[in-house]
Amino acid sequence: VARAFGQGPLAGRRVLVTSGPTHEPIDPVRYIANRSSGAQGTALGRALAELGAEVVFVTGPADVPPPPGVEVVRVRTAAEMREAVHAALPVEAAVFAAAVADWRVAEASASKIKKTGELPVLRMAENPDILAEIAGLGADRPGLVVGFAAETDEVEAHAAAKRARKGCDWILANDVSEGTGIMGGTENEVLFITEGGTERWPRMAKETVARRLAARIAEALQEG
Ligand code: CTP
Ligand code: CA
Repeated sequence: VARAFGQGPLAGRRVLVTSGPTHEPIDPVRYIANRSSGAQGTALGRALAELGAEVVFVTGPADVPPPPGVEVVRVRTAAEMREAVHAALPVEAAVFAAAVADWRVAEASASKIKKTGELPVLRMAENPDILAEIAGLGADRPGLVVGFAAETDEVEAHAAAKRARKGCDWILANDVSEGTGIMGGTENEVLFITEGGTERWPRMAKETVARRLAARIAEALQEG
């Protein structure tokens, strides 16, 4: 059901969503990226806005256009995403759906790297963990912090450990093994992990996952 923006259970609530991949430059023409299309984060931004939330939507270079009714902040790298997330605070809830590149090239080249006959060697540096950083904030911590976990083996165990390690409230774990069609696809199949335990949600459209999660967020903010 489409609602007029500004009405609904999340009216007046400011919510942050990160979405899409990040691109980490190698030189002016090349970058390192991942297979995230931005579909799940975009569906979530839309679902939250439809419940009336004021959504700040921080997105990397996604395949899909950002949803209507949100404040769009476009970024390219993980470092830029981190800056944009901090600038968006304070928010009441934050959902980290972005597939942030774990590593960047330590020293991206200002000039195009040319073929010289010698193979280039890229030295990598680890990117900041934006979710862990925000979940670990004191006074500025959003009341509800939600992460995603992209896993391939022992999905639930890895995701539960990730929730604890990062200090987020909820984590949605998805199996991104080759053949599941989830990364870059239109459907998702998630484990919804909270302090109270794990719910296995059936495979469904990313839009449906988004609406379910948005409804849970609305419930949690109304209780809190
Ligand atoms: N995340 C983030 N900043 C990063 C890496 C991840 O904010 N630099 C967030 C993602 O948006 C997601 C969650 O952390 O909500 C988990 O991402 P994931 O890649 O599954 O976890 P990592 O901690 O990076 O662990 P690994 O990739 O080694 O499994
Ligand atoms: Ca990662």
